[in-house]
Amino acid sequence: MSEVVIETEGLSKDFGPTHALQGLDLTVRAGDVFGFIGPNGAGKSTTMRILMDVLRPTSGTVRVLGTDPRTGGGRLRARIGYLPGELALDGRSEVGSWLDYQARLHGAAPGAWRPYAERLGLDPGRRIGKLSRGNKQKVGLARAFAHSPELLVLDEPTGGLDPLMQQEFLVMVREARAAGQTIFLSSHILSELEHVAETVGVLRQGRLVTSAPLTELRDRLGTTVTVETEHPLDPAPVGRLEGVEEVHADGTVLTVDLHGSPDALLKHLAAHHVVHLRAEAPDLETSVLRLYHDDEEADR
Ligand SMILES: Nc1ncnc2c1ncn2[C@@H]1O[C@H](COP(=O)(O)OP(=O)(O)OP(=O)(O)O)[C@@H](O)[C@H]1O
Ligand SMILES: [Mg+2]
Repeated sequence: MSEVVIETEGLSKDFGPTHALQGLDLTVRAGDVFGFIGPNGAGKSTTMRILMDVLRPTSGTVRVLGTDPRTGGGRLRARIGYLPGELALDGRSEVGSWLDYQARLHGAAPGAWRPYAERLGLDPGRRIGKLSRGNKQKVGLARAFAHSPELLVLDEPTGGLDPLMQQEFLVMVREARAAGQTIFLSSHILSELEHVAETVGVLRQGRLVTSAPLTELRDRLGTTVTVETEHPLDPAPVGRLEGVEEVHADGTVLTVDLHGSPDALLKHLAAHHVVHLRAEAPDLETSVLRLYHDDEEADR
């Protein structure tokens, strides 16, 4: 097992009567790309602010790169690339001089941000205050990546980016991952991170609903197999086959919810004339939404 980079235990944060985090236990391992997913108000930004010591928890423990953020100070922050949810930039500065200044703060080589600015299509000579939202986001991303930090904490990094730039961002994440950096990033939408996250944690009302490798999450969700046969099939014996969790018959079309190996199903089908067969992963997004929902039901 690789080293733990982020660990919270029983982490809680109250804002007056609002329980933003309610005993959050979170583990992020070195070299992982961890997607932190959850609806508005789930507590994603609050968690990230606590990791960066922008906020202090009401109770519970936090360790980031082996250190408590409360005592880690500038030395710890220099090992992290942070993109806050609400970027506060100096509007009067030029992009380039601001990024140079930030590089000095982080002990990074001056100009290390240039390749990132270039690939994100950012003009270093523009005044920050005049930039569009997406371009401001790029300034924040260039700052977070520039000093090749061990850990990237990115709060909704794709917000405001157009689809082409979202793709470029995903390439940057993959490169960072290949270089051994750990990436912890948040989003409302799983599909945005599906192609890059290796582990997904789903947060709801300040608690982790699930945290698992994406492959495991996919396995848990299974495969939907749709079969059309020349003559209608009896669904009952299909429902008893190994790996079949649910079966629905509509005339000559059977829809099967399959978990694990399709072997038993295929052998059963081999005795019939199969006109058409399709196997597809259920939509991950819908399934995760259902996960939020099921949890709500359980709360009642
Ligand atoms: N400074 C604050 N003062 C009071 N309440 C706050 C503060 N910051 C966050 N909250 C509350 O804490 C809860 C969690 O907020 P948080 O911003 O962490 O959620 P989030 O998951 O990042 O949501 P979003 O997807 O909308 O960014 C919300 O109910 C929010 O209103
Ligand atoms: Mg947020």
